[in-house]
Amino acid sequence: MSKHSKWIALALAVAMLGTAGLIAGCSSSTASTPGTTGTTPAKATVKTVTAGTLVAGSDTAFPPFESMNGNTAEGFDVDVVAAVAKEMGLKSEFKSYKFDTLIPTLIAGGKFDIIASGMTINADRKKQIDFSSPYIDSNQSISVTNASTVKAAADLAGKKIGVQSGTTGQQWAKENIPTAVLVPFDDTLSAFAALQAGKVDAVVNDLPVSAAVVKDATRGLKIVQEIPTGEQYGFGVSKANPDLLKAVDGALAKIKSSGEYDTIYKKWFGVAPSSK
Ligand code: ARG
Repeated sequence: MSKHSKWIALALAVAMLGTAGLIAGCSSSTASTPGTTGTTPAKATVKTVTAGTLVAGSDTAFPPFESMNGNTAEGFDVDVVAAVAKEMGLKSEFKSYKFDTLIPTLIAGGKFDIIASGMTINADRKKQIDFSSPYIDSNQSISVTNASTVKAAADLAGKKIGVQSGTTGQQWAKENIPTAVLVPFDDTLSAFAALQAGKVDAVVNDLPVSAAVVKDATRGLKIVQEIPTGEQYGFGVSKANPDLLKAVDGALAKIKSSGEYDTIYKKWFGVAPSSK
């Protein structure tokens, strides 16, 4: 290589690195950025569905963890995945799926690399997929309309309860309010819409999400009971991809110790993780 072409190669390499860094820093949209394929940063070692990108499958109607702002996914999970991906030398992307299709789709392979969907780590799911170390705690809750006389689970005997299909909230309601009629919805926000419309008497759902939903006073909803199920969310990884699981866990540990995780937490929950 001549001296001249060496300089060109170097400048090109620097330019490519710069581009990759920029994309990794602000990538949370569902649309992939054109023209970046093949610019896999040197740090990336794990195999992903799309080279250079950590693709997350998610039911993106679960604020403040994931929701759609136009074509762009946003939320706590979206930011944590972006930070984890960046740590791995990758950009990130969210793709929307129905919650109860996430595990089978991950196992089938080829669509996304991880599940990032406020998914609770539990024994049943662990038989099918692996989970990262937990990245946040959660509980269940019962929401009703402001006008409702329902005060707690005991008042829901024989009543209609809206739940999201395939969730731990659905499971909890089934086991703990056996006389209730469970009405399953594809997504959580539809369950709350049905509650507002008087089609169900209550919604059983993850507390942080219900809290974010009822905070909007125009909905006329309230939380009447918090249920301490002691759940923890993890990122789902295929059992066929142990290297990815290791890399995700390593990156998660790094963003926790660097303080980046705390910054993201504060952004979405308004308080530091320890004070919650
Ligand atoms: N944490 C609950 C579960 O794992 C609900 C998760 C629902 N997530 C979502 N993005 N809709 O079953």
